[in-house]
Amino acid sequence: MTEEYIQLTIDGTPVSVPKGTTLLDAAKDAGIDIPVLCYFAHTTANGLCRLCVVEVEGSRLLQASCVTQAQDGAVVHTRSPKVERARRTILEMLASTVDISESPELQDMVVEYESRPERFEGGKKRRPEIIDDNPVYIRDYSHCVMCWRCVQVCADDVQYTFALGFDGRGFNTQIATFFDHPLPGTTCVFCGNCVGVCPTGALKAKREHLLEQGVAPEKIFELTRLQGKGKRSRGGPHLDRQYQTTVKHG
Ligand code: SF4
Ligand code: FES
Repeated sequence: MTEEYIQLTIDGTPVSVPKGTTLLDAAKDAGIDIPVLCYFAHTTANGLCRLCVVEVEGSRLLQASCVTQAQDGAVVHTRSPKVERARRTILEMLASTVDISESPELQDMVVEYESRPERFEGGKKRRPEIIDDNPVYIRDYSHCVMCWRCVQVCADDVQYTFALGFDGRGFNTQIATFFDHPLPGTTCVFCGNCVGVCPTGALKAKREHLLEQGVAPEKIFELTRLQGKGKRSRGGPHLDRQYQTTVKHG
């Protein structure tokens, strides 16, 4: 069966793409980069962050290009003043509530879109405690932008372990295990996929985290070995306590 193609214009460039192509991919075909945050090529796109919005002539609202299919004859603008204003505001809200100090790409976008997070100075910040409950990785949700990638790779996009979901409501919504159980007590198999897809440093390998805290490499080896033994024997808590008294999170 031959593929049906549609024609549209993106930023003045005529593009021809197979029917069903998203605006994000159609733009990529035309050599036009659209910024993304929650979108990841290997997970299901949910259109959560709205950084990828574009203006489609005739549409009242901006469209999230990662989840919107290109339409035949559409005229699309990826850098119109309306689009730039939307991205600028989203970045300002993100940077004023979340710690983006470990997200160079987000920081670059803040500069590129001339965002001024200080417009929201005085607003509430998301500063939950670091969660250090296993030998493999730490969770520091003060860096989390709720992109949902970790939840998806943990679920039916990749690993099928469903250890992660979310907890809380509104501003206090946070990625969490079910009933907030420590990770070793969940279905987590410590595959590390969630750490690999996290774009902000909210999920980080334990050894990397300890090195950043100034813990000596030989001590790190000893600590994570102790925690690992604890996990295997299901006798982890006392070893965890030993670890916790040695390491202070910055
Ligand atoms: S922890 Fe990382 S991957 Fe998970 S939602 Fe937060 S930023 Fe995204
Ligand atoms: S990248 Fe499209 S909504 Fe987040």
